[in-house]
Amino acid sequence: MLTIAIPKGSLLKESIKVLQEVGLDFSAFLEPGFRQLQIEDPTGRAKALLVRNGDVSVYVEYGQAHLGIVGYDVLREQGANVAHLVDLKYGGCRMSVAVQNSSPYKSPLDLPMHGRVASKFVNCAREYFKELDLPVEVVYLGGSVELGPITGMSEAIVDLVATGNTLRENGLVEIETLFYTTARLIANPLLYRLNSDGVADYVDRIREVVAVS
Ligand code: PRP
Repeated sequence: MLTIAIPKGSLLKESIKVLQEVGLDFSAFLEPGFRQLQIEDPTGRAKALLVRNGDVSVYVEYGQAHLGIVGYDVLREQGANVAHLVDLKYGGCRMSVAVQNSSPYKSPLDLPMHGRVASKFVNCAREYFKELDLPVEVVYLGGSVELGPITGMSEAIVDLVATGNTLRENGLVEIETLFYTTARLIANPLLYRLNSDGVADYVDRIREVVAVS
């Protein structure tokens, strides 16, 4: 049966909506108190796995899910062996370098050599500073990254910015954007090539829905 890994969190609602538009109903995941992690569409044509954002590509890469929906930021950070198929256009935000308002750093090149940069996205951050040829120590934090500069643990952060409220409320300011990100449809390359369980047909329909939206 066609299986789709859907991310918990901010992409969930829109992901369920786009799947509804191609006739697959996994809206039960949105019901308050609903705890099941694997459900079938009422028509019995497909099932969905509800997983953490960072785990979507794992299920797709290992073939337990034909398809997955995940942010480009996570895909880029993980470098998983999956087929990137469709930009779904929602979940837009940017990966940015930010510092404290009061800091003297107006651009990443102002940061001190061998200074510290905190991030959940350490690979994206390392790649960016390598391209800049600025040696910094990138320190992994699992969340609330803004506390890095506030506490003095790091000079800067690399993190996702959507509304900018979190930065503002914590006295931080963006000084550079690394890249923009949106939700992406990914597939297991082999299952997609074989059109296993009609996966390629669903991809075509999702592509059409996104194109007219
Ligand atoms: C993300 C990100 C920022 C915040 C940005 O965190 O890491 O902290 O959202 O959104 P904003 O610009 O709209 O304020 P998330 O909510 O995923 O929580 P986390 O810090 O625990 O990762």
